[in-house]
Amino acid sequence: MYKITPWEVSGDIDYSKIVKEFGLETISEHLMKRIEKHTKELHPLLRRGVFFAHRDLNWIIDEYEKGHHFFLYTGRGPSGHTHLGHILPWVFTQWLQEKFHVDLWFQMTDDEKFLFNDKLDLEQTRKLAYENALDVIALGFDEKKTKIFLDTEYAKTLYPQALKVAKRLTFSTAKAAFGFSNESNVGEIFFTSVQAVPAFLPSVLKGKNVPCLIPHAVDQDPHFRVARDILPKLGYYKPASIQSVFLPGLRGGKMSASEEGSAIYTTDSPETAKRKIMNAFTGGRDTVKEQKEKGANYSICPIYHYYRQLFMPDDKELASLESECKGGSILCGECKERLSKRVAAFLSDHQHKREQAKHHIEKFMIRD
Ligand code: TRP
Repeated sequence: MYKITPWEVSGDIDYSKIVKEFGLETISEHLMKRIEKHTKELHPLLRRGVFFAHRDLNWIIDEYEKGHHFFLYTGRGPSGHTHLGHILPWVFTQWLQEKFHVDLWFQMTDDEKFLFNDKLDLEQTRKLAYENALDVIALGFDEKKTKIFLDTEYAKTLYPQALKVAKRLTFSTAKAAFGFSNESNVGEIFFTSVQAVPAFLPSVLKGKNVPCLIPHAVDQDPHFRVARDILPKLGYYKPASIQSVFLPGLRGGKMSASEEGSAIYTTDSPETAKRKIMNAFTGGRDTVKEQKEKGANYSICPIYHYYRQLFMPDDKELASLESECKGGSILCGECKERLSKRVAAFLSDHQHKREQAKHHIEKFMIRD
């Protein structure tokens, strides 16, 4: 059993079931080839199926080939510092921007995190949004092609558009998509209308329809299912999307902000990151002897998934790690040590860029 909504993910997630239940399409070889034709290479997150499903991506490529360029849209709910799981879709989005030379609209839903979180006030979610924006910028987005905004600071533009969506959305549809109850506050029920807006805002501003592609972790899909129903009724295209799996938590299961040590934050020191890695759950055996004889199980190992999703882009190197692990010639301690080094290198580089980003942030932010 698992549960997956934009605000709660629990249980053992079965991604092939999600594809069926959500009505997604898997990414075929043919589609990969179509992408590769334009990008010249395939990003590891695509090759390895970390981005595993989509809606209407063939249409996005059709339009692109006709010279009708799309824009990218993604976002972040600023409820805390950024962890490595959050940056995964952003890393991929940055690659898409670079390869297709397209604009990105990045939404910071400070309103959402205020509405859905009892402990956060609007001043806190606003501050967190600015912290998170530094992580976005540090990943190398093009300052000429990227717009970042907070919902509360871009409200004059967003609000009239959100109203158009809200007017077409009944409580019963919102309830079915998100599982609201009579106890849900009315802001929560309204909120998806705000998340729908960036999917068509560039069309409004340009006065002509522009295709939209949304890279996101699969838990956000209910928002865009709703948006896909409503936007054509307002005269806009349905947004296309591409969905990623989650980076697993280091303690096994999902990553959780409340479970200390389950996630590595971009603001963690290399020592903290190392401690979290060394204490992680693995796919290893109970004893060294047993592991040397029988090998370990990498498919359930968060350490392995950190390599696969973020820290080992070279396929040959990954294949050799897999065989070392399965064959019992590498033990978990050694494997964790090696990962810690890569994570430390990433963190020091990222933190440096994050500091630099403080000087450039105003080139990215839009307000009204
Ligand atoms: N609701 C998302 C979150 O909680 C933030 C978000 C807004 C988003 N717009 C998006 C995520 C578009 C992906 C794509 O993190």
